[in-house]
Amino acid sequence: MKFGGTSVATLPRWQNILELVASRRAEGARVLVVVSALSGITDALKQMCAQEDKGKRIEAAKAIAQRHYDLLDHMQLAVPGTLADRLAELAQLAEDGPSLLGELAWSALVQAHGELMSSALGSAFLTHSGLPTQWVDARDCLSAIALPNQNERTKLLSAMVEAKPDPALNARLAELGEVFITQGFIARESQGRTVLLGRGGSDTSASYFGALLKAQRVEIWTDVAGMFTANPRQVPSARLLQRLDYEEAQEIASTGAKVLHPRCLSPLREPRVPLLIKDTNRPELEGTFIGPEVREHAPSVKAISARKGITLVSMESVGMWQQVGFLADVFANFKQHGLSVDMIGSAETNVTVSLDPTENLLDSDALAALASDLAKVCRVKVIAPCAAITLVGRGMRSMLHTLSTVLAEFGQLRVHMISQSSNNLNLTFVVDESVVDELLPHLHELLITAGALRTDDSALFGPSWQALYGSGEVLPPAASWWRDGRRADLLKLGAEHTPRYVYHLPTVRQQARELKTLAAVDRLHYAVKANTHPAILKALAEEGFGFECVSPGELKAVMAVVPESAPLLFTPNFAPREDYEWALTTRATLSLDSIYQLEHWGEVFRGREVVLRLDLGRGLGHHEKVRTGGSGSKFGLPVEQLDAFLRLADTHGVTVRGLHAHLGSGILDDGHWGEVYGQLASIAERIGSVTFLDIGGGLGVPSHPGEARLDIAALDKVLREVKAAYPHYQLWMEPGRYLVAEAGVLLTRVTQTKGKGNGTIRYLGVDTGMNSLIRPALYEAWHEIVNLSRLDEEATALFQVVGPICESGDVLGTDRRLPEPQEGDVMLVAQAGAYGKVMSSPYNLRDEAEEIILE
Ligand code: LLP
Repeated sequence: MKFGGTSVATLPRWQNILELVASRRAEGARVLVVVSALSGITDALKQMCAQEDKGKRIEAAKAIAQRHYDLLDHMQLAVPGTLADRLAELAQLAEDGPSLLGELAWSALVQAHGELMSSALGSAFLTHSGLPTQWVDARDCLSAIALPNQNERTKLLSAMVEAKPDPALNARLAELGEVFITQGFIARESQGRTVLLGRGGSDTSASYFGALLKAQRVEIWTDVAGMFTANPRQVPSARLLQRLDYEEAQEIASTGAKVLHPRCLSPLREPRVPLLIKDTNRPELEGTFIGPEVREHAPSVKAISARKGITLVSMESVGMWQQVGFLADVFANFKQHGLSVDMIGSAETNVTVSLDPTENLLDSDALAALASDLAKVCRVKVIAPCAAITLVGRGMRSMLHTLSTVLAEFGQLRVHMISQSSNNLNLTFVVDESVVDELLPHLHELLITAGALRTDDSALFGPSWQALYGSGEVLPPAASWWRDGRRADLLKLGAEHTPRYVYHLPTVRQQARELKTLAAVDRLHYAVKANTHPAILKALAEEGFGFECVSPGELKAVMAVVPESAPLLFTPNFAPREDYEWALTTRATLSLDSIYQLEHWGEVFRGREVVLRLDLGRGLGHHEKVRTGGSGSKFGLPVEQLDAFLRLADTHGVTVRGLHAHLGSGILDDGHWGEVYGQLASIAERIGSVTFLDIGGGLGVPSHPGEARLDIAALDKVLREVKAAYPHYQLWMEPGRYLVAEAGVLLTRVTQTKGKGNGTIRYLGVDTGMNSLIRPALYEAWHEIVNLSRLDEEATALFQVVGPICESGDVLGTDRRLPEPQEGDVMLVAQAGAYGKVMSSPYNLRDEAEEIILE
């Protein structure tokens, strides 16, 4: 168990350590505590070393001693002999100065006293508190090794230890007792001199000891619960990473996470000793467990990090193409200037490398010196300041297809370099430093939305930083009527018969009422294509909604249940002439979306008022297949044909009363509808006859856990602002999904399971699939799936949830962590109220799902 400087600086903190160590003892473990110096002491010792005046050094040593006396006072303890010895030594070192030992060795020994003293103090405290604790000198256990390219400074101040399991040490300690305390940060080299382990030294010591003793585990106790999916200071919604393998953790540590020094993981890898990061103040939190690779996980991006202050050095060969030895010449210069290279990109005549400031002492002098030497062998260009944005995850290359929306973000930026690590664990983009702060939270969110960061796997991804440490202003998780209030009803319905869609009307009404708070909107229509169940239509009519229909069938279904007063829109696309003729016999407001309709059927519309649906040239939405704008999509009249359309309208006495645009479905960006209103309004100004603007539907509902909800208040603000600029138009909307998605679930039962690939792939079969819910197959849509019969059991294994249809695409969910299922268990597929039943088919002649309404 390793504790850092702040954790050992006060009496309450030591009482905390006492409790934690005692709890491990109670589990039957023997405990070795590794401590840092009291906070501030290492710095004080360094300052003492820099002091040339002997008198001042002695003063400094006294002040340092006093810090320890004060803490002992608090603990009501006398100065223990071990500490008195250390203090005497320190006083002597202050007196002697560096002349006897040499500057570096003296400085190392002086600094080592920070840990020697804190551990002596801790041993006294724990022993006096009833936990007999043996003080162990770390230097008797950790031997530094000599490395090539090591100078005297790195040998003494940044040493490395080869830590192989040492049964003799284990035996020696076993004879001494059960609880031990030793120092982080220090070791001994072959000549017997005290050496330091450099940055992150105490964590590294803990790992060395973990490896030497082949410990059950190493626990790093610190002030945060572990590693997160992003730097929480930049991304407060970053999630705690609960399980990582050594390589992933090392990669995350090397690319930015500060909680653990990357080098403290390698000693643990071979002896397979796990490492656990825990929060000293919140020991109940799970923390981050780092261990040998755990295969039972779905491929996932684990973290996104950003390192600033990156310098790129681009080197163009001036000699011949593929000149032998070019790389050797170039890299020799980096070695000579003591600069360690991070990433490398190469072409036949160019090689570009990045230098990371955390590994290099980079100042303009160092760079200028490097550049001038390099100039002898190549043409040099230095690009700075840059930032490296890194995605980390095992099997990065197999996840590329999930990253398309994330990669699209880089389209607007200057990307200087892309590097894919040869261990297949990271993908790095080097961009201008200035863009990073804004970009990172956005990319993190996109990774979740794209399903690349699998936050649905709660075994891996813990709570967000915000939820753990934030101000408490966390939006509650999405309403789940089915998890809380109505579970028993659903289990009963599922036991009776499956497949069944169940719709919760109070949720429909709740969503409707939320949209009615949009003060800027003059008229709301429900896009009935999402779900045409009569009870839902009726409920929304009662809430005052109008209805948007795309076929005579939809119009008839609506007219059959809603009152005469409910406004109707008819918004067909590539429909036959008869549909329009028929719709004109109803009270529906008709929309046109092509020249053809007026050119060939002009007489049909003579004297009528219509809505014109426009294509604003771009589409948006949760999947390519639901984006309804641009030349690649069949919807709307392209704006460049507007004048021709208006001339034809004039010829046939048709009045354009409204303009309409719908760019796609599943949009979570509140700014979008403001842009559409603004664009339509400016076009309407040219037409003159327009009185209302219909800005479509498309309001998204987040599906992945952790994805942000659409902010309706923010949307209202956006709309009120644009409307203030064009107040003379009525504003209409026509959402579908937003009203019904969360109100519906699909119930289905487990039929059987199957293992493949030596049990690494497990299929869980249910009694319906793409015939009832095609969204996963068609759009790779993500629906939460739970085993309703075992909601309280631990989800232990990953399953591919599949249906009984004869298609490989008949998958409802991939890599879902679920409890061990049994035949007949009732499974629930969530957010199935929109585009579920309405898109189902009789394929394979399987029975269609029934629909049930819960009031
Ligand atoms: N208005 C028009 C003209 C539409 O075409 C649509 C949807 C909507 C409104 C309602 O969009 P919503 O608010 O529901 O996003 N089957 C896909 C969605 C296709 C949407 C088609 N048009 C899915 O399951 O995601």
